[in-house]
Amino acid sequence: MKPHLIILGAPGSGKGTQAARLVENGFKHISTGDLLRSEIAKGSELGQKVSGIISRGDLVDDNTVMALLKANCSVDKVSYIFDGFPRNIAQAEMLDAELLHGRKTLAVYFKIDLGILIDRVVNRRTCGSCGEIYNLSTKVPLVADVCDKCGAIGTLKQRKDDNREVVANRLKIFAETVEPMLAFYRSKGVLVEIDASMQEKDVFSELETVIS
Ligand code: AP5
Ligand code: MG
Repeated sequence: MKPHLIILGAPGSGKGTQAARLVENGFKHISTGDLLRSEIAKGSELGQKVSGIISRGDLVDDNTVMALLKANCSVDKVSYIFDGFPRNIAQAEMLDAELLHGRKTLAVYFKIDLGILIDRVVNRRTCGSCGEIYNLSTKVPLVADVCDKCGAIGTLKQRKDDNREVVANRLKIFAETVEPMLAFYRSKGVLVEIDASMQEKDVFSELETVIS
């Protein structure tokens, strides 16, 4: 079995885009942001609890997200791509102690100048039907308002937390929390860095090299 992959990177660094492509290499993609947004869409008790937190761009508390993650993955049979978890050193420790239990992992840091990310994120659109990720300035659908992947019409949506003010808060939190996580994985000898400012296809080919 391949190692589990932990993608560390700022909002807009391309975690979701690359994870979706890597699924074709046999990984299973799990995004705590997607799981939380799906709880909000369902109107569940958890969704109601986290909706305001996510709209402000703050982090949901560690135990809540860890419980959601554990309820949605089973790490024995398939290698996962963890996208958006961990977000801080406490979550990095929890992931190892409560889920991975020392299983082989590789942490990949999507390194990028945070200054370019607000524009990337506010221009993101996501297909509400299949989750395909687009960008109004760099990756538009071939036919306006039709999803290239699933063909759904009029389903491209902007996330509620993708406005300038909220993205600025998300980036600030990322900048405050990333270094101890990098140090954690570096000290275990499992950290690699990829330049996430390259074109999407070039980031992907580096990722493939790293996991092979
Ligand atoms: P989450 O959904 O994880 O959001 P995020 O970490 O802020 O990351 P994004 O999804 O915004 O960016 P991405 O790196 O996936 O970029 P993408 O590939 O889409 O979390 C949302 C919220 O949920 C958090 O703020 C928090 O409230 C809560 N939450 C989630 N997990 C949590 C946890 N563990 N603990 C506590 N709270 C948690 O790409 C972005 C755009 O860039 C797209 O338009 C794309 O087309 C474009 N793009 C991608 N790659 C490239 C490239 N190489 N070149 C040019 N453009 C590119
Ligand atoms: Mg994402």
